[in-house]
Amino acid sequence: MDTYEQLKSIFGERVTKASSDLCCYSADGSQVRGRPEFVALPKSTEEVSQVLAFANAQKIPVTTRGAGTGLAGGSVPLAGGIVLDMTQMNRILEIDIDNIQVVVEPGVVQDKLNEKLKPYGFFFPPNPGSSATCTVGGQIANNASGMRCVKYGTTKNYVLDLEVVLADGTVINTGSKCLKSSAGYDLSRLFVGSEGTLGVITKATLKIAPLPKSRKLIMVSFETPELAGQSVSRIFAAGVTPSACEILDKTSIQVLTKLDPNVILPKDGDVILFEVDGSKNAVDESAEMLAAACKDIANSVLVTGDASKMKEIWDARSLLGAAVSKMDPTKTRIYVGEDLGVPIKKLPEMLSKVYEIADDVGLLPMIYGHIGDGTVHVGQFIDVLDEKEWDKLNEAADRLHLAAIELGGTVSSEHGIGAARGMYLEKQCGPAFNVMKEIKKSLDPNGILNPGKLGM
Ligand code: LAC
Ligand code: ZN
Repeated sequence: MDTYEQLKSIFGERVTKASSDLCCYSADGSQVRGRPEFVALPKSTEEVSQVLAFANAQKIPVTTRGAGTGLAGGSVPLAGGIVLDMTQMNRILEIDIDNIQVVVEPGVVQDKLNEKLKPYGFFFPPNPGSSATCTVGGQIANNASGMRCVKYGTTKNYVLDLEVVLADGTVINTGSKCLKSSAGYDLSRLFVGSEGTLGVITKATLKIAPLPKSRKLIMVSFETPELAGQSVSRIFAAGVTPSACEILDKTSIQVLTKLDPNVILPKDGDVILFEVDGSKNAVDESAEMLAAACKDIANSVLVTGDASKMKEIWDARSLLGAAVSKMDPTKTRIYVGEDLGVPIKKLPEMLSKVYEIADDVGLLPMIYGHIGDGTVHVGQFIDVLDEKEWDKLNEAADRLHLAAIELGGTVSSEHGIGAARGMYLEKQCGPAFNVMKEIKKSLDPNGILNPGKLGM
């Protein structure tokens, strides 16, 4: 039997090699491209196990894909082979409120999960910008996070157990329903963020959290982005942990104002949107403490508890990444050098560095991101037909990554390494990169799982 026949014997009609289908699986949200030879849509762990056992024996590359919303090429099949589209394994298997957890298949869409949890008064907190479409499996594979992580933590903090199919088809569980465990190596953490290079996630048991009763938004504007950066350490020192802490620099404010001239945002500087949540009393107190901690370095402080205003502002924020091309409609947003992370004390330095580098190469950057956990997103936009602009962009991205490493930071705060940032992992991790390579070799000796990613 040839490969296609073999795949049909496992998946029946749920496999394709038609060009018109394959091209849909050749990209994600980044510039990375790579075409598979086959796409299969598993419906069960058993099918995933069978296909991996077969691919491993034949040494055929396998790239796992959720909704394809990644920004670093993680799900793009660089070496051809088989793409496993996990979106048909999309059942919520159990909502177990007594144990404060859910069991889901990897293809469940993040927002759908939260819709189902809402009537119980619970939610799954990590919320990447793509939550309306991204799958929980992709979220786990990238250790995705988003705006709430400053208080609630990232995806890794919620994973209790994963069912994973290894490269040879063996099925393992990495944890249990227990909320904690000290039994051996923490394999759940190993698979979180492994971007499909160590195994295929087929089921996940995830902690959930009670929905907060009350929320308030505090919009603070500052004369400079560096002052905005300083405010982050200040508010933590004052004993406030915000549930969101988002920087919007002056360019971001211009972009959002172009998108909607009536947008309710301070227009007099670089802005941080802080949100606090919890009981009504705690929220009132935290909002006051936060405003007081920022007051003497701020231009203005605006506080609102109005749910519809808050929604309007957060909706605008969530459009910001792509909306940057409003600054010049002939240009396109490109996701490179856009996901830097540094220790929060280094934020003012990182922000200055971004402007310095952009100025040197001659690009206009927009800075936004989850500054409360040190994430600095850099929105750059170029004329994609102009090769010189690409050169500038790539030079800026390279210097930005190196600057983050220099400051003790990371080249990916939440979007992943994928194919776009592999060359920086060794520099960032030092000898630990060799440990990663050894782990990869031991779990995937034939190198069939998502080859070409994580710099391997
Ligand atoms: C955001 C995505 C790009 O924060 O991570 O909008
Ligand atoms: Zn983000």
